[in-house]
Amino acid sequence: MNIAVIGTGYVGLVSGTCFAEMGNDVICVDNDKNKLEKLNSNHITIYEPGLEVIYSRNFKNGRLRFTDDLKAAALSSDMIFLCLPTPQDEDGSADLSHVMNITGKLGDILCQIDDFKLIINKSTAPVGTGEKIFGILTAKGIKNFAVASNPEFLREGFAVEDFMKPDRIVIGSDSDKALKMLRDLYEPFVALGNSIIEMDIRSAEVTKYAANSFLATKITFMNDLANFCEKAEADIDLVRLGMGSDTRIGHKFLFPGIGYGGSCFPKDVNALIKTSVDFDAKLVLLAEVDRINQEQRARFFIKIYNHFNGELKGKKLAVWGLAFKPDTDDMREAPSVTVIKRLVSEGVSISAYDPVASENARFYLDDTIIYSPDKYSALDGADALVIFTEWGEFRKPDFTVLKSKLNSPLIFDGRNMYEVKEMQKLGFSYYSIGRKTTKGNN
Ligand SMILES: NC(=O)c1ccc[n+]([C@@H]2O[C@H](COP(=O)([O-])OP(=O)(O)OC[C@H]3O[C@@H](n4cnc5c(N)ncnc54)[C@H](O)[C@@H]3O)[C@@H](O)[C@H]2O)c1
Repeated sequence: MNIAVIGTGYVGLVSGTCFAEMGNDVICVDNDKNKLEKLNSNHITIYEPGLEVIYSRNFKNGRLRFTDDLKAAALSSDMIFLCLPTPQDEDGSADLSHVMNITGKLGDILCQIDDFKLIINKSTAPVGTGEKIFGILTAKGIKNFAVASNPEFLREGFAVEDFMKPDRIVIGSDSDKALKMLRDLYEPFVALGNSIIEMDIRSAEVTKYAANSFLATKITFMNDLANFCEKAEADIDLVRLGMGSDTRIGHKFLFPGIGYGGSCFPKDVNALIKTSVDFDAKLVLLAEVDRINQEQRARFFIKIYNHFNGELKGKKLAVWGLAFKPDTDDMREAPSVTVIKRLVSEGVSISAYDPVASENARFYLDDTIIYSPDKYSALDGADALVIFTEWGEFRKPDFTVLKSKLNSPLIFDGRNMYEVKEMQKLGFSYYSIGRKTTKGNN
């Protein structure tokens, strides 16, 4: 099939690359000249495990191309995927300007031809967006087209794996032809038997928000419970194991931490709340989820603040992990940024190490912190280590090196990386989430 993918970010680049890997001819469109220059010279623009190899293979064999020429891409493709940003607007709603702007341009292009085109929205967009796209294209005089919603469920850090072997594919359209085209496209991706779920376009749009909001709620429930466990002198990790073993609950997404972040959960939760208010059916539980999630970052800061009796000025902290989660370089809505900015405003100097996100972190934190080349050099002369991201390489550090480099054996762990008993034995003062705090020799 000939496919155009408009927007070549995390979703667009992964989708385009994986479609090409399955034998389709894919042309990816973007308006970022820098990005296109890199992609057209065989340089990948995002960090995503496994992506570089298949991007490079398909780029070299010509099945994956990159351009800023929307017209040429649209005219040469049967299916046009919109993978455009839908960031949070000031009132919490999803900003649809990118999607609507491109839809208008597609309207101007496609009204000149009679060939059938299927426009598929993969951007996360509120219920009713598909109908708006349909309305704009109809108003431009286009007759031979259909619109579909195909929400994307990939997880950053596992994007290729998720795209190539998805749990499920959701396709929503009121057109049988559109549903058939999407079924044909996706069949090779569900060869192991996972399902392609067909529905109307409005239900598909709601499904994406419902899935993300439910996962955000699960995380938030555990964070709230973790705070209760701290007061009640219970251990959240034991509680997690006990409750997760119930097959109705399951073990996934029960890990407490410093709150969810990233480019999706925060904005999608807020957009769903806003849409529910617009429909006069406010999702009150979700409003609490968002509030508790913000508070979780502040609680972590307060742990550090209280340990130093509020005297943070002049302190030096080492930071491990900046990305909002491991295996990604995405810094959007990373909890680390909120807490670090607060620490810096209190006069703390920070030396941070992240395996891949430091370059992107500069956009949010600029030169207010030092970016260390490796995890151990970040520790030199620091008063404590603060962990924001559970990267694999932080799981089994050499604690004797930590002790020798830190001014005192003190760790604030926002991801419960280590066993409390072990840290006690090693003589660390160790703060984590929802568990006992140990007091070392500092
Ligand atoms: N990132 C994720 O994990 C993820 C997962 C599922 C769904 N989504 C949703 O997918 C959508 C895209 O997310 P993303 O993370 O890929 O965003 P992104 O910011 O990484 O990528 C968007 C791309 O669109 C390009 N773009 C913007 N305006 C354009 C225009 N007018 N013409 C051409 N290109 C343009 C940008 O340059 C960028 O490369 C969002 O709605 C998001 O909520 C994201």
